[in-house]
Amino acid sequence: MQISITKTTAPKAKPDWNKLGFGKYYTDHMFIMDYVAGEGWIDARIVPYQPLQLDPAAICLHYGIEIFEGMKAYPGKDGKVRLFRPADNAARINRSGARLCMPHLPEEMFVEAVKTLVDVEREWVPTLPDTSLYIRPFIIANEAQLGVHVANRYQFIIILSPSGAYYPEGLNPVKIYVEDEYVRAVRGGTGFTKCGGNYAAAMIAQQKAHELGYSQVLWLDGVERKYINEVGAMNIMFRIDDEIVTPDLEDGTILPGVTRDSVLKIAKDWGIAVSERRISVEELADAARSGRLKEAWGTGTAAVVSPVGELRYEDEVFVIGGGQIGEYTQRIYDELTGIQWGKREDKFGWTMEF
Ligand code: COI
Repeated sequence: MQISITKTTAPKAKPDWNKLGFGKYYTDHMFIMDYVAGEGWIDARIVPYQPLQLDPAAICLHYGIEIFEGMKAYPGKDGKVRLFRPADNAARINRSGARLCMPHLPEEMFVEAVKTLVDVEREWVPTLPDTSLYIRPFIIANEAQLGVHVANRYQFIIILSPSGAYYPEGLNPVKIYVEDEYVRAVRGGTGFTKCGGNYAAAMIAQQKAHELGYSQVLWLDGVERKYINEVGAMNIMFRIDDEIVTPDLEDGTILPGVTRDSVLKIAKDWGIAVSERRISVEELADAARSGRLKEAWGTGTAAVVSPVGELRYEDEVFVIGGGQIGEYTQRIYDELTGIQWGKREDKFGWTMEF
């Protein structure tokens, strides 16, 4: 793939790496590539970061034809930058795209685009502990058309944002509210995709959770409102006795997280029992009441491994692990971030360094 590069003539001042927060600053350049039906993906380019030119009738603005990915570039002490399982994000954007009738994006093009942009922006990879360069690849249907039809024109765009922890709590446990009024996904819907609409539909519940003093909602299944689903910005895992239990992906309502998969592989490799299965909120509540629910944590690219210290379900509040980060959570966090930062052996061959 030919990628033309136009460098900015007005580089921005870098933000204070100590005060990054999540997704608030953007680098000097962005990647753009167009898709035109009949021609395919064309005109790959890296250009100065700038507003998009969009026709007000662009389909993405009206019918939400948009999908995205979340990835990170990690700084290493050796001066190398590392991507983590980028081919998995490439595969997932295509699974999302297929569901929304968007064109296939060759996976090697996706990875090359990410790698080339990150390489141009190496100086924007923050170097403090627990910071990284968050990568947001996304595809929009930009054809001007108010009829509800599959689009003929798209743009694949990548922007980069030097970021710290997703939750202001950092590695301190977050409080999660079990949502039993609104639903996120149903079988046959778009739950397994990373489409903007999934997140739009979740806002009301997130607002409710915030008003109640919780960071996020834990979704239940959309039909019976009985089985644990995911948190929205992360997948969820529990340690019940000494086993890791997490909802399975069978019914297509849960996002197949790259971090989720990595954590399960690490845990299995350590010999920890892992069970991917349906888990009802009642089973979870019983485990909490009887003291068998030892830990809970979320997994996600942005959230990394995020301990959950409190769950509220209806009027009952369960404090998990005394509200402290647990043994499995800490061990998994250290191992995963150790691999991502190039500090621990990458025996699974997950990192791409350059
Ligand atoms: C990620 O973890 O990268 C995500 O995309 C979740 C999010 C909506 C911040």
